[in-house]
Amino acid sequence: MYNFDKKVERKGTSSVKWDKVDEIFNREDIIPLWVADSDWETAPEIIESIKDRVEHGVFGYTYPAEEYKNVIVDWYKKRYNWDIESDWITLLSGVVPGINIALRAFTRPGDSVIVQPPVYYPFFSAVKNSGNILLENQLVLREENGSRRYRIDWIDLEKKINENPGTSALIFCYPHNPVGRVWKPDELNKLLSIADKYNLLIISDEIHADFVYNGGHQPLAAIRPDMREQIITISAPSKSFNIAGLATAYAIIPDTNYKKRFEKAAEGIQPALNPLGLTALKSAYEDGEDWLESQNKYIKDNYKLVSDSIAKIPGIELIKSEGTYLVWLDFRKTGLTDQELEDLLFHEAKLGLEPGHWFGKGGRGFFRMNLATQRYNIEEALIRLKDLMSNRFANLEVDIDGQ
Ligand SMILES: Cc1ncc(COP(=O)(O)O)c(C=O)c1O
Repeated sequence: MYNFDKKVERKGTSSVKWDKVDEIFNREDIIPLWVADSDWETAPEIIESIKDRVEHGVFGYTYPAEEYKNVIVDWYKKRYNWDIESDWITLLSGVVPGINIALRAFTRPGDSVIVQPPVYYPFFSAVKNSGNILLENQLVLREENGSRRYRIDWIDLEKKINENPGTSALIFCYPHNPVGRVWKPDELNKLLSIADKYNLLIISDEIHADFVYNGGHQPLAAIRPDMREQIITISAPSKSFNIAGLATAYAIIPDTNYKKRFEKAAEGIQPALNPLGLTALKSAYEDGEDWLESQNKYIKDNYKLVSDSIAKIPGIELIKSEGTYLVWLDFRKTGLTDQELEDLLFHEAKLGLEPGHWFGKGGRGFFRMNLATQRYNIEEALIRLKDLMSNRFANLEVDIDGQ
């Protein structure tokens, strides 16, 4: 019913992903597979609701009326079976602003804040922006049952907390961008018990929660309602419905005093809300679920195509993904430096993959690929990757892990 193959010309729309390729990759003729947005139109229901709102013609200051919070409450109930209250919700203009506000509200300059790289890089700047000390609890890639998966290094996590008594918060990425982990209940419980033990605040970025390949997403805060002063959930409909440009997100903070502190810290920083973003949020959460499921099926098929094909290409290993529309590709077997890999991928294969080292030093030798694009882009990218790698690295084994 929905057509995700339909070509949409994004060049010339001030699209970061398409119109900045020259600046980022030093060439125009590249397939951009970097920035995390999608290349198709959003749900028709959302487009209609925005058109209606545009017809009104007045776009003055807008406040988050109860109706917008109520659709979020209903969404959490129906998709994640989590009972939240509208009083817990603060509307925001973005998840990243929300993380920055949370750090300002709940940490003091000089406190240490933990991130788990390789990770979405605005986490690093959020820590620095708030005058905090950055602690990196590197994820570790382990071979288990014939496939490689990133894990949290629990020993290192506790060691970092013990060595840095001023550690007050951890920014959690769940599902994880870029490594595609959807943390399992035992991992979530362990993280929560460590947070409990050391009185650590967890800022849980759950923006990718609607893309979980098998099963559903379990919000972190729903697991331990007793830890209401220690978990702040920040999320948005922007990835799920391709409406990031409408700048609408939200924080869920069950504790009344904490919510007040958060809103106080947002004063003068958080801009007025975007009326078109609020309209899109309401329509997405009220009427967009069929479209979302259909989109997710398309992305899942893209993932299968990429993972089956990469398994036959020498020199690249795909790290199995459990969620998000991003895949993390390991080029380390080539033995090339990041610069050499970038030269090959950008200038020979003409592919705009996102360099892994942007996500921290653990990302060296990796590239992130965005799957939320029309199948013909994925097919062409795979042909180019195969040509490039088969010509140069025929001596390397193919990745049996990805098969
Ligand atoms: C984990 C994560 N958090 C936040 C964002 C961006 O959120 P926003 O545009 O609402 O600031 C992204 C976008 O890629 C992301 O991957």
